[in-house]
This record gives sequence, structure tokens and C-alpha cells, in this order.
Amino acid sequence: MITKRPITPTVSISGFPLPLPYRLFFLLVEPLATLAGAYYAHFDQQTYLTLSHAPSAPFTIPLGMSITMSQLGNMYFAFAMIEALVLRSTSDLRVWKTLLFCLLVADVGHLLSIRALGTQIYWNVAVWNAIDWGNVLFVYVGRAAVEMPYPETFTGFQVHGPDTWLEFHKNEFTPKPFGDYDVDIKIECCGVCASDIHTISGGWGKQHYPLAVGHEIVGTAIRVGPKVTLVKVGQRVGVGAQSWSCLDCRQCKNDNETYCRKQLDTYGAVWPDTGIVSQGGYSSHVRTHEHWVFPIPDALPSTIAAPMLCAGLTAYSPLVRNGASPGKKVGIVGLGGIGHLAVLFSKALGAKTWVISRSHAKESDAFALGADGYLATSDPNWNEPHVMTFDLIINTANSFEGFDLDAYLSLLDVHAKWVNVGLPEGDVRVKSQTFLKNGCFFGTSHLGSRREMLEMLGLAAEKGIRTWVEEVKIGEEGLRKALGRLHRGDVRYRFVLTGYQEVFGRE
Ligand SMILES: NC(=O)c1ccc[n+]([C@@H]2O[C@H](COP(=O)([O-])OP(=O)(O)OC[C@H]3O[C@@H](n4cnc5c(N)ncnc54)[C@H](OP(=O)(O)O)[C@@H]3O)[C@@H](O)[C@H]2O)c1
Ligand SMILES: [Zn+2]
Ligand SMILES: [Zn+2]
Repeated sequence: MITKRPITPTVSISGFPLPLPYRLFFLLVEPLATLAGAYYAHFDQQTYLTLSHAPSAPFTIPLGMSITMSQLGNMYFAFAMIEALVLRSTSDLRVWKTLLFCLLVADVGHLLSIRALGTQIYWNVAVWNAIDWGNVLFVYVGRAAVEMPYPETFTGFQVHGPDTWLEFHKNEFTPKPFGDYDVDIKIECCGVCASDIHTISGGWGKQHYPLAVGHEIVGTAIRVGPKVTLVKVGQRVGVGAQSWSCLDCRQCKNDNETYCRKQLDTYGAVWPDTGIVSQGGYSSHVRTHEHWVFPIPDALPSTIAAPMLCAGLTAYSPLVRNGASPGKKVGIVGLGGIGHLAVLFSKALGAKTWVISRSHAKESDAFALGADGYLATSDPNWNEPHVMTFDLIINTANSFEGFDLDAYLSLLDVHAKWVNVGLPEGDVRVKSQTFLKNGCFFGTSHLGSRREMLEMLGLAAEKGIRTWVEEVKIGEEGLRKALGRLHRGDVRYRFVLTGYQEVFGRE
């Protein structure tokens, strides 16, 4: 299931990419315009074109050098101007630094021209310089208007309330203000996580509507804040389920930013300073702090990588934190989006891996994914042969319906661990006695850290791990179909929304 990525040729001066057509346009237009300017400026065209010195020239400065310099300065200046205008990057200090640098280069070139061509072109030079500086002033004064069309509003498929959670409306929304560490990402595809359903259907409680969900995002960074160092414009990047934490507390400093008390989710969270509700990846763009923006290795196609950003990390973190490795026997409860990636990563980490599913329906898939064994809880006494043999069980079930916790826990060896990652809407009752027979530990894991995300993507690239993906085109119809089927458990094993360019059609 390899998807081809379109290649958009870009060049970057001052850190911003310039699409090829603009590049060609300015390469040709600038010299032609300068020659036309020379003609209309009425100074000695012959001198200019033959690159010889005017008789009145007081010094013999190489004319070719002075003209080349002003040309280079002008061209560079034009690039920077167009970057500022086309890419609306005028709030970024680097654009202004580049513009000023170009102007100085051009001005020196112009001054050298005076020395080469003689003082008769003094007024021409004064006019060229005034026009250049005037242009910069124009961009500076007009920058608010220039920035407005992009990317101040994004477009997304939002749900308006829990009763109509399968009805998606294409709305425009305003993201949080662009911060120094923010990255704007033009989204290419997004996985559909069971959490999206728990959220929009109101199963996890009250939400802020209208809301666009989706937190398995892959796209291209199109704008980076002035203090961003982890991401470059034009880079293919991903965003998962978390988008912010304080990065200052004990947890954040210990690679536990997912447990920070101030952590914010990619969708449905309220940004404290503005009250704006974060919107997810069923949208044209997403604006995210660089710490939660992850470069995608070239070896991973976008649709394969997208589900790893939530489901993959949610599986990977508890596996590595709880010792999944050669010699260990790991159980994965539930073969869904997270479950199938848990099997792939547990195997990649070298553990013996068993799938614990409700029926035999997914047995052949489990073995195709690389599982070493398969238990179906619908079989009578399904747990008996394996009682007290597992070192770790990751539970990905998103419901506790008919969930016989005692039978599952009986599988664990002494003091072995049960880790929930599934977050069902209901609850399950436990007593101390529940854990008595083997003294097992019972806990929950939330996503994973940036370090684990980068490690996981690296491992996936290195080992050629492939998510099992079913692609669906984003839109009212595609979303209704994908989320409806996921709700019924009818997916093998992750829906990924695609076709963003066609549907949103924005740069
Ligand atoms: N902790 C975190 O950080 C985190 C992050 C992301 C998502 N989540 C949560 O993780 C859960 C799973 O997400 P997902 O996207 O993987 O969902 P999914 O694709 O729907 O998979 C869930 C799987 O759980 C099993 N299952 C469902 N109901 C069950 C029941 N009553 N008893 C036993 N097994 C049952 C099914 O597998 P079988 O058919 O094989 O039985 C199903 O395929 C969701 O609750 C989601 O919100 C948590
Ligand atoms: Zn998720
Ligand atoms: Zn913190």
C-alpha cells in the first residue's frame, strides 16, 4: 500500500520555500525589467550593453562587476519580496533581515555603477534605490493586509453536537494566534482513531462544538515561527494526539510530557490564553508547537506513518516502558488500530507476542501481522492453558462490555503488568482480591513522549513496519462511512483520510 508523494520543487532563501514557477518568473523577469529600465532611463545604452566605460567615468571600476552585483542584489531582493508577499511570512524577522541585506547589496552595486558610468547616472541610481526602499516600506505597511488571507483561518469538517456526530460540516475556523514556536502544517492525510468517536459522540462527556477531530496527522510544514529549530519549512511532518505541555515541570523534564498537568490535546482542548478550542486533522491545516511536530522518515509513506502518530505511539510507549523484549511473553487484547500496531512493535522489539481477541475472526490476520499465538475469549476456558505465563498485557479494548477482567488478569505471571491503553466509556469494578492470585500490577498508559515518538518512527523505518491501512477520501460522505464502520468494529485495521488537496484546494 505505497502511496506516491507529489514532488514540489522548491528553493529556499531565508528559510522559506519558493515554488518553481515563481523562481523561473523572477529569474527571467528581473533581468528583462532591468534592461527595459536602462533603456527608459536614457543613459548611455550602448555603454551599458557593451559593458565598456563611459568617457566621463572618473575611476575604472569593472563595470561588469558593478552591474552583476546590482543584478544579484535586485534578484535576491525580488526573491525575498515575493517570499514575504506570497508566503505571508512578514511577521518573521528573518524575512526583514533578508530584505535589508538584499537592499544593501543592491545599493552598493548601484553606487559602484556611478563610479563606473559617471555622475550623469546619479539621479537614475537615486531613483532605483528609492524604488527599492519604497517597496520594502510598502510591504511593511501592507503586511497586515497581506497576511490576512493566509493562514489566519483554516477549514475543517466539524461536528456540531453529540446527537449528530456522524454529520460533518465543512466550516472555516480561526486557529490560535501564531506563536514563536509554532508550525503551520498543510495536512496531507489523517488516521481515524477510536478516540475521535468517543469525543464527538459525547461518550467521554461534554465537548466544545463545533469540533473537528483527528490526531494522526501527516502533512508539510509551510510556516515556522521565528524560534523554531526542530522543523524546517517544506519538511514532511506528523502531529499526534498531544499538542502542548509546559515543558518545565518535573514530568516534562523527564520525558513524561504526556503526563504534564498542563498538557493539551490536539483537538477539543481550550488554549488558556485565548479560549480558542484546538481543532484536529479533519482539516486543511493544523498549527502546533514544534515539540509535538515530528519529522517523518523518508522510508515511511504518509498513510502508513499517520496511524503511528497516535495508535503506534500509544502501543510503543507501554511496550518499551514495561520491558517488551526477547524472552518476554506479551499479550495484546483487542486487534484494532492500536492492537495491530502493538503486535507489529512488540514483534519488532523481539518479544513473543500473543493476540487476545474476542473471536477467531481475526486469527489469520494476527498471524499475518507476525503474532506467535492467538487466544479467542469466545472459546470455553480460553485462558486455562496460559494461566500465569504472561510478562505483560496491553489492553486496547475500547469497551468493557462482557469484559471478564479476572480471566484476563489470570494470564499474568507474579507481579507482571496489565496496562490499559483503551479508554472505554464505562467502568470496570476491581477489588484488592482481584490482583491477589498473582500480585499483578494494574495501570494505564497515555500516548508517549517526543523521544519515544522519534524512536518509534525510526524503528518503523528501519524494520519496514507497515500499518494496515484502508484509505478513505475526506468529505461528509467519507467521514460518515469511515466513522460509522469503525464504530461497528468493521476496519482492518486503520482508516486513513486522504484527498486533502482536492477537497480543501488551498496552498
Ligand atoms: N491511552 C491512550 O493514550 C490512548 C490513545 C489513543 C486511543 N486510546 C483508546 O484506545 C482504545 C482503542 O482505540 P483503537 O483506535 O485501537 O480502537 P479500535 O480500532 O476500535 O480497536 C479496539 C479493539 O478493541 C477490541 N474490543 C472492542 N470491544 C471490546 C470488548 N467489549 N471486550 C474486549 N475487546 C473489545 C476489538 O478487538 P477484537 O475484535 O480483536 O476483540 C477492537 O478491534 C479507544 O478506547 C481509544 O480511545 C487511548
Ligand atoms: Zn488516538
Ligand atoms: Zn509540564
